[in-house]
Amino acid sequence: MLDERSSEASLGVSKLASGYGGALVIEDIDLDVQAGCVSTIIGPNGSGKSTLVKTIAGGLRAASGEVRLDGRNVTRLRPDQLARMGLGYVPQTRDVFEGLTVKENLEMGGFLLPRDQVAGRLKEVVELFPLLDRLISRRVNNLSGGERKMVAIGRVLMLRPRVLLLDEPTAGLAPELAHMVLASYVRKIADDGAAVLLVEQRAAEALQIADDGHVLVGGRVQLSGRGSELLARDDVGEMFLGQLPGDVERGDEHLALGLFEGEERDAEHAVSNETGREA
Ligand SMILES: Nc1ncnc2c1ncn2[C@@H]1O[C@H](COP(=O)(O)OP(=O)(O)O)[C@@H](O)[C@H]1O
Ligand SMILES: [Mg+2]
Repeated sequence: MLDERSSEASLGVSKLASGYGGALVIEDIDLDVQAGCVSTIIGPNGSGKSTLVKTIAGGLRAASGEVRLDGRNVTRLRPDQLARMGLGYVPQTRDVFEGLTVKENLEMGGFLLPRDQVAGRLKEVVELFPLLDRLISRRVNNLSGGERKMVAIGRVLMLRPRVLLLDEPTAGLAPELAHMVLASYVRKIADDGAAVLLVEQRAAEALQIADDGHVLVGGRVQLSGRGSELLARDDVGEMFLGQLPGDVERGDEHLALGLFEGEERDAEHAVSNETGREA
């Protein structure tokens, strides 16, 4: 359970398919994320990235296929069961408790810890994200987007997850802060031993810090490879350009990967029925 930190973490996904109300949004997804590694999922809006991580996190039931944590089939487990097994999930939206303070948010994140361990763990999370220190008594709804995202990630880190799912952690952040989140925090969490699955719209930056990447288009992985390999490929760019009509006016010189830099597209991609587990 929570204190079994010694074994190597891994996340495996095979032939995973899921969607909403019987219609499949993602299909035939295979992933393998090992301890110490960041795998990134990039792809245009609406390609199913959030659906994929939501399904892995147990918030959406898989139509078929398998999710494995440390080799164990966990496809049908509930989010709280997965959290106990060491899976952390920072969703794209609704990732903090708005009306609570930073400290209270972090404490809520420690809900599965024995009470007497919460304060110690909170201190460790603040040491990891020192910016949280001066915000600790502030209400989250008064914080900037970047500060809130830090709280959201910190909250999930309270349980010291061995596998961490991050859905667009830099959405809405200024470029420098986004860079810091990816290059320092996300990378550090993996370097500390977690297996990290990172969904990003800042494709180039994500590929720079990731060990490997997968391009999701239309609910299927179109291309996978080492981060550096994908960065160097023109066709990665073409996949994005082909799927983003809103970017046409930017012109072709905006090669692919640079396309997403500084974008805050769809940060609040609101869906109506996300509260519970969907069929
Ligand atoms: N709760 C939902 N109910 C019905 N359809 C949804 C829901 N959430 C997402 N979708 C649809 O699933 C597709 C993929 O969405 P999403 O996984 O959010 O993509 P991404 O994260 O790549 O932008 C879109 O067509 C979207 O409209
Ligand atoms: Mg999304």
